[in-house]
Amino acid sequence: MNHIERIKRLRGSFTEDFEAMLITNPRNVRYLCGFSGSSGTMLITRDRAVFFTDFRYQEQSAIQVGKTARIVVFKKSLVDSLRKEIKKFKITSLGIEKSMSLNLFLSYAEELKIDLIPTQSLVEGLREYKDVDELVCLKKAFAIADAAFADLMKVIKPGMRETEVAAHLEFFMKMRGSEMPSFDTIIASGPNASKPHAQPSSRKIKVGEMVKIDFGAVYGGYHSDMTRTIFMGKATAKFKKVYNTVLEAQTAAVKALKVGIACNRVDAVARKVITDAGYGEYFGHGLGHSLGLDVHEAPALNKKCKDKVEPGMAFTVEPGIYLPGWGGVRIEDVYVVKPDGLLRLTATPNKLLELDF
Ligand code: GLY
Ligand code: MN
Ligand code: MN
Repeated sequence: MNHIERIKRLRGSFTEDFEAMLITNPRNVRYLCGFSGSSGTMLITRDRAVFFTDFRYQEQSAIQVGKTARIVVFKKSLVDSLRKEIKKFKITSLGIEKSMSLNLFLSYAEELKIDLIPTQSLVEGLREYKDVDELVCLKKAFAIADAAFADLMKVIKPGMRETEVAAHLEFFMKMRGSEMPSFDTIIASGPNASKPHAQPSSRKIKVGEMVKIDFGAVYGGYHSDMTRTIFMGKATAKFKKVYNTVLEAQTAAVKALKVGIACNRVDAVARKVITDAGYGEYFGHGLGHSLGLDVHEAPALNKKCKDKVEPGMAFTVEPGIYLPGWGGVRIEDVYVVKPDGLLRLTATPNKLLELDF
């Protein structure tokens, strides 16, 4: 969907409380006009779109935003240029995003002297439904991650430090076209794997233990996210039991993930499998989340979220069991919800992988 169409949709969700809206969240700015730099703000009235940036992004914004909005390259300050535009359009009430920093809010309140009306995740609401252009980027990000994981499986070996494994994986992703890692790569070996978001350490990975690998690539600003927990050598009976429980939970949740089901019910399906196996208290996070321009987006598949699953949404399904002192297993795959089924974005198989040494 082109950016003008996205802006049109946003206008469709304007309320009577404000005459124009200020977009300050960089991901929302990118969604609405394609700007990928760090200094970009949009003023969207009912019939105009103005984009503000500074000298550093003059050329870039002309290319990325030129067809969507009038560009103002501010010289003095953003708020000064904004004040002029607001005066020109005779705006007296401005919708703002709740993610705006308190600093910015206080400065705008003092300098603009108009009503600033907090709005409720309007752009984020649009972003819940991935359009065709977004799916192209998501698919590419996932393909890069799949290929980089396969690259890693060829070089990972006992004696490598967790940080080295992370470096290899991030190198492979970048070589295959990733813009950056989706988030800080998680490489957690042996007992470190019991920490759901462990940071790679100088610990050397060994034969006879698990390695939890959670990572993602970014393409066109879109994030992939995938977790595999592999075994160095022949898996122990306990590892197989925990792994198979997590896989069973994931499989059941994926089966339940359909248009119309409430997000918390999908979470409950996975949780039941893990609880019935006796590991309920060791699955302490939500089942999954949506993703796109951010790696974590709404809606979430967790106990609290009652939103209904709808076509166009993309979800991670990532149950886990974490046993302090022993280790942990998480398996994470991503699915896009279609009117008549699911599209799996992760291509890497999720059956237990035992590496031979
Ligand atoms: N490591 C981020 C996530 O899987 O949600
Ligand atoms: Mn995730
Ligand atoms: Mn992840």
